[in-house]
Amino acid sequence: MKVAIVLGTRPEIIKMAPIIREMEKKNMDFFILHTGQHYTSNMNRVFFEQLKLPEPRYNLNVGSGTHAEETGRMLMGVEEVLLEERPDVVLVEGDTNSVLAGVLAAVKLMIPVGHVEAGLRSHDRRMPEEINRIIADHTSDYLFAPTEKAKENLLGEGIGYERIFVTGNTIVDAVYQNLLLAEDCDDILDDLGLKGGEYLLATIHRQENVDSRARFKGIIEGLRLVQNHFNIPLVYPIHPRAEKRLKEYGFDAEGITLIEPTDYLSFLRLESRARLIFTDSGGVQEEACILRVPCVTLRYNTERPETLEVGANILAGAEPESILEKARLMFDADRFWPNPFGDGRAAERIIGVIEERMGSRR
Ligand code: UD1
Ligand code: UDP
Repeated sequence: MKVAIVLGTRPEIIKMAPIIREMEKKNMDFFILHTGQHYTSNMNRVFFEQLKLPEPRYNLNVGSGTHAEETGRMLMGVEEVLLEERPDVVLVEGDTNSVLAGVLAAVKLMIPVGHVEAGLRSHDRRMPEEINRIIADHTSDYLFAPTEKAKENLLGEGIGYERIFVTGNTIVDAVYQNLLLAEDCDDILDDLGLKGGEYLLATIHRQENVDSRARFKGIIEGLRLVQNHFNIPLVYPIHPRAEKRLKEYGFDAEGITLIEPTDYLSFLRLESRARLIFTDSGGVQEEACILRVPCVTLRYNTERPETLEVGANILAGAEPESILEKARLMFDADRFWPNPFGDGRAAERIIGVIEERMGSRR
């Protein structure tokens, strides 16, 4: 059996890493097809090196563009590779344009697809990720739902039981596999002059937040209010999309320590020792919950409602006063919530299902 892993962005590399490790452990025949959606070294290369992942056999180098440009270029490139390699199954993870292209190219060639992190819904169709999720879920053959809630979403949309497997989220595997290493590596806290428990961490990059001048302004003002109120450092490793917008809009980020996007171990270290995390990232909401660090989500909805239910996360939107109010609520939150995303063995389950199902198809 030959497996094709199609990926293209930072979170896909991180969340696919445990699956790749599992396949290496089992000596399986697989290859990585990188779309090239993320290409800057600190959004891409650093993760392959640090997580010791094999080089992609193919890189389509599609780079950035509009949604149609990115997806269109990827579709043609993925199809060409799949025609040449003829894998038995394609695996994709998450909700990016790379996922959309991987799934569409494969299903039209009648190659079975496994969608890792299936069934997440924000119920907000203005988000490009929501459209990608829906299409990926409705066209994939194996839906690896991280939680029971994700499974319910799929069943509610008429997807059959037999295609859904609740496995946990591979982000738990990734956190467990890398947290100890993060504690041993050069300390980014020392480099930034930070003390554990005495700083705030922020990541904001989603299109709906940073491509809207008004929303991004509200968020930056909110973060500055928070930093002023608590009077401890606030560190923001800034995603290239957000950095571009911040410069274009000419916002004043005084009081906020802007740094380059960090490698994974440094980011895990920053997250695990933070007093409070502010984010619009999906992966960061999950990691904060797993690491038991309270999180304020700078959005009006989340496709990770499990984090809200256990009390790890709160929605603040993009208004400065609301951001400060929610930060005050979460600052002293008790941190003993359960982790709703699984036991760190999601990759093992996913590969188990693939082996069993592909075996019985033969
Ligand atoms: C994409 C995903 C988003 C995910 C994020 C992870 C889609 C629709 N969106 O958003 O769901 O949360 O990845 O980080 O797929 N850029 C660089 N270097 C890079 C990559 C991007 O400079 O390596 C800049 C470019 O200016 C580019 C912009 O960032 O135009 C946006 O990149 P793009 O890949 O289109 O979307 P993301 O915002 O990264
Ligand atoms: N991350 C990282 N360095 C950073 C910021 C984030 O390694 O400077 C990691 C983070 O630990 C998480 C993933 O990137 O695993 C989340 O990716 P991102 O926020 O880009 O995308 P999303 O999860 O929103 O799709």
